[in-house]
Amino acid sequence: MNVIEATNLTRTYVTGEVSVTALKGVDILLPTGDFVAIMGPSGSGKSTTMNLLGCLDRPTAGIYKLDGLEVSNMSPDQLAEIRNQKIGFVFQGFNLLARTTALENVELPLLYREKEIPAKERKERSQQSLDAVGLGHRYDHVPTQLSGGEQQRVAIARALVTRPALVLADEPTGNLDSRTSVEVMRIFQELNEQQNITILLVTHEPDIAQFAKRIITFKDGRIKSDAPVKTRLIATNVLKTMEDEEE
Ligand SMILES: Nc1ncnc2c1ncn2[C@@H]1O[C@H](COP(=O)(O)OP(=O)(O)O)[C@@H](O)[C@H]1O
Ligand SMILES: [Mg+2]
Repeated sequence: MNVIEATNLTRTYVTGEVSVTALKGVDILLPTGDFVAIMGPSGSGKSTTMNLLGCLDRPTAGIYKLDGLEVSNMSPDQLAEIRNQKIGFVFQGFNLLARTTALENVELPLLYREKEIPAKERKERSQQSLDAVGLGHRYDHVPTQLSGGEQQRVAIARALVTRPALVLADEPTGNLDSRTSVEVMRIFQELNEQQNITILLVTHEPDIAQFAKRIITFKDGRIKSDAPVKTRLIATNVLKTMEDEEE
């Protein structure tokens, strides 16, 4: 089963008289359980691709099937519905609500389905989601009481709480120091290995991309390369080495 089947994905932006084709016919196939890092220089089309795959935007041409469902021609309302059901987002800036506890932040995406999911289940699922990212002891902390790495883990828990088919992360370690970045990558690797969660993340850092199973590189709106990671980094091992070096 493919979570993503995108064929000839094309996106042209028109502003006034000027048109820019940011994406020039890209094919992406992502099987369930894959873990892909997207790389490429600024302006190469990474964000455009993430917006399309995340159902935040529609392609000018091409076909996009998400979890077996063709979404390329859906209305903005339909897209919003699909997005809420099938995709979990993680952003560079965490995007947590201030003065709101970790548990309540994680519960937010479930509030859209308030009628479907009773309060007790919403709470249990939010707790499970925080437990899964190692924050079982931080339910009642607000963002200012959490480190950057912990805040990003809350954001990952929030992305997972709807049990999405796909997790999309745009520069999730962009605001974190190198040690904390590896800790976040360890969470992604665990979720991918243990729960078979499909992950697609954009990163500028080659070291971070090495934690993925596969790297897709963009250039000028096209895919320049798409290959498995040969010597994959395992975050638990990298963290152990970092600890040993500190001693
Ligand atoms: N909303 C937009 N309107 C017009 N041009 C855009 C828009 N978004 C992106 N672009 C252009 O499309 C190209 C690809 O941008 P983007 O997908 O953001 O690249 P990346 O994320 O790899 O830096 C760039 O030339 C950019 O200027
Ligand atoms: Mg970008």
